[in-house]
Amino acid sequence: MAPFISLILFAIAAFQSVCVIAEDQTDCNPTNSTSCDPDAALGTEHTWWFNSTLDSELWDMQTGTLDYTSEGANFEIKKENGSTLLVSNFYIFFGVMEAHVKMAKGAGIISSVILQSDDLDEIDWEWVGYNTSAVQSDFFGKGNTTTSDRGGIHAVSNADTEFHNYTSYWDKDRLEWWIDGNLVRIVNYSEPLTVYGKNYPQTPCRVKVSNWPVGIKGQSIGNIEWGGGYVDWDDLPFIMTVQRIRVQDFHSGKEYEYTDKTGSYNSIKVIEGNSTAKAEINKKPKKTLSQKWDDLSAGAHIGVYCGAAAAGVIIFAVFGWWCRRQRQKGRLQRALDNGQNSAELKEMDLGKQWRSSQWGQKGSYQPVP
Ligand SMILES: *[C@@H]1O[C@H](CO)[C@@H](O)[C@H](O)[C@H]1NC(C)=O
Ligand SMILES: *[C@@H]1O[C@H](CO)[C@@H](O)[C@H](O)[C@H]1NC(C)=O
Ligand SMILES: *[C@@H]1O[C@H](CO)[C@@H](O)[C@H](O)[C@H]1NC(C)=O
Ligand SMILES: *[C@@H]1O[C@H](CO)[C@@H](O)[C@H](O)[C@H]1NC(C)=O
Ligand SMILES: *[C@@H]1O[C@H](CO)[C@@H](O)[C@H](O)[C@H]1NC(C)=O
Ligand SMILES: *[C@@H]1O[C@H](CO)[C@@H](O)[C@H](O)[C@H]1NC(C)=O
Ligand SMILES: *[C@@H]1O[C@H](CO)[C@@H](O)[C@H](O)[C@H]1NC(C)=O
Ligand SMILES: *[C@@H]1O[C@H](CO)[C@@H](O)[C@H](O)[C@H]1NC(C)=O
Repeated sequence: MAPFISLILFAIAAFQSVCVIAEDQTDCNPTNSTSCDPDAALGTEHTWWFNSTLDSELWDMQTGTLDYTSEGANFEIKKENGSTLLVSNFYIFFGVMEAHVKMAKGAGIISSVILQSDDLDEIDWEWVGYNTSAVQSDFFGKGNTTTSDRGGIHAVSNADTEFHNYTSYWDKDRLEWWIDGNLVRIVNYSEPLTVYGKNYPQTPCRVKVSNWPVGIKGQSIGNIEWGGGYVDWDDLPFIMTVQRIRVQDFHSGKEYEYTDKTGSYNSIKVIEGNSTAKAEINKKPKKTLSQKWDDLSAGAHIGVYCGAAAAGVIIFAVFGWWCRRQRQKGRLQRALDNGQNSAELKEMDLGKQWRSSQWGQKGSYQPVP
C-alpha cells in the first residue's frame, strides 16, 4: 500500500482521537450542579494487563506517558516536578478493584491507585516512597479533608521490587482493603470515621492511577511530612509499575445519574442498557490499515486516489524544479570554479531565461495540422 494512503488514514485516525478527547467529561460536581452529564458505567468485570497498549477509548493518560514493558506499564517521573496520571473513562457504582503494583521508591514520591467520584468520594491505595515495606489505605467523603485521621498503614514486603495484589472491595455497607488475599482493614458505612455514613464513599467512581511528587515546594507542610520530606531530584527517575488491574462493577447498566445534590447512594439512578465500555471490551480486534482501506466505500477510494494523484503531480513538479535548480547550481559552481568572469555568468543567466521561455512555450505548443 502506498505510503500516502497510510498518511491519509493516519490523519483520519488522529482526527477521530481528537473528537474522543473533545467528548471527555468536563469537571462537574453533582453536589453543586444538577446539570452534570451522567457517568458512563463499566457495567461488567474486566482485567486489563498493562503489558500492551491500553485502549484509549477506556483509559485516558491525562499526564505523562506510559512505558510498556513485558511485565507491565511504567508510570515514570522522568524530570523534576514530573508526574503521571491515568484515568478510566468508565465508572463503577460499588464494586471491586484489584491492582498488581510495584511502588516507586523515593522520599516525597507517592504511587497511588484510587477510586474517585465526581463529588470527590475516594477510596485509596497509596504507597509513600520512603517506606518500601508499607502501603496506606484511606478514604474520603465529598472531598472532606477537615481531618486526616482516616488513613491506615499496612505492612507489605518489598513493595518496590515485587508485585502484590492490592484489592479494594466496596459496597453500600462496607469498605475492605485486601493484600495478597488477606483482609487488612474494614470500614463500615456508619461509624465515627465516616461521620456516620455522611462521609462514606457512595457515588460512582473512576479508577485513577498515578505516580507523583508530594515533596515539593508549594505543598502543605503536613503533606510534605506525610511524604517523608522533599524529593531528591538527583535520584530520578522514579518508577511505579502496574502489571494489571481488574475492575468489577456491581451494577450492569449503561450510565449513572445523580438525581439530586445530596451525593447519597439513594440518589443515584442506574440507567439500564449495555455500557459503551462493555461494547468496547467485547469488540473485535482492531483492524489493520489495509482492512480499514478495504472497508472504505468506492467513493472514498476514488477520493483518496484523486488526492494521491494531485499529491503526485505536486511532488513531481517540485522534484522537477529541484532538479533544474541543482543542475543550474552545478553549472554556476563549475563556472565559478573555472574562474569565469561575470559576463560569462550573465550569459548563463540569459541561457536560463531562454530555457525557461522555451519551457513556457512548450506548454502552449500546438502541432500545425
Ligand atoms: C460549588 O460552587 C461554588 C460556586 O461556583 C464554589 O465556590 C464551590 O467551591 C463549589 N463546591 C464544590 C464542592 O465544588
Ligand atoms: C501480557 O501478559 C499476559 C499474562 O501473562 C499474557 O497472556 C499476554 O500474552 C501478555 N501480552 C503481551 C503483549 O506480552
Ligand atoms: C467533615 O469531616 C469532619 C471530621 O470528620 C466532620 O466533623 C464534618 O461534619 C464533616 N463535614 C461535612 C460537611 O460532612
Ligand atoms: C514502614 O512501614 C512499616 C509498616 O508499618 C513499619 O514497620 C516500618 O517501621 C516503616 N519503615 C519506615 C522506614 O518508616
Ligand atoms: C487478589 O485478591 C483478591 C482479594 O483477596 C482476590 O479475590 C483475588 O482472587 C486475588 N487475585 C489473584 C490473581 O490472586
Ligand atoms: C463493622 O461492622 C461489623 C459487623 O457488621 C462489626 O463486627 C465491626 O465491629 C464494625 N466495625 C467498626 C469499626 O465499627
Ligand atoms: C518545581 O516546582 C517547584 C514548586 O512549584 C518550583 O519551585 C521549581 O522551580 C520547579 N522546578 C522546575 C524545574 O520546574
Ligand atoms: C445488550 O446486549 C445484549 C447482547 O449483545 C443484547 O441481547 C441486549 O438486547 C442488549 N440490551 C440492551 C438494553 O440493549
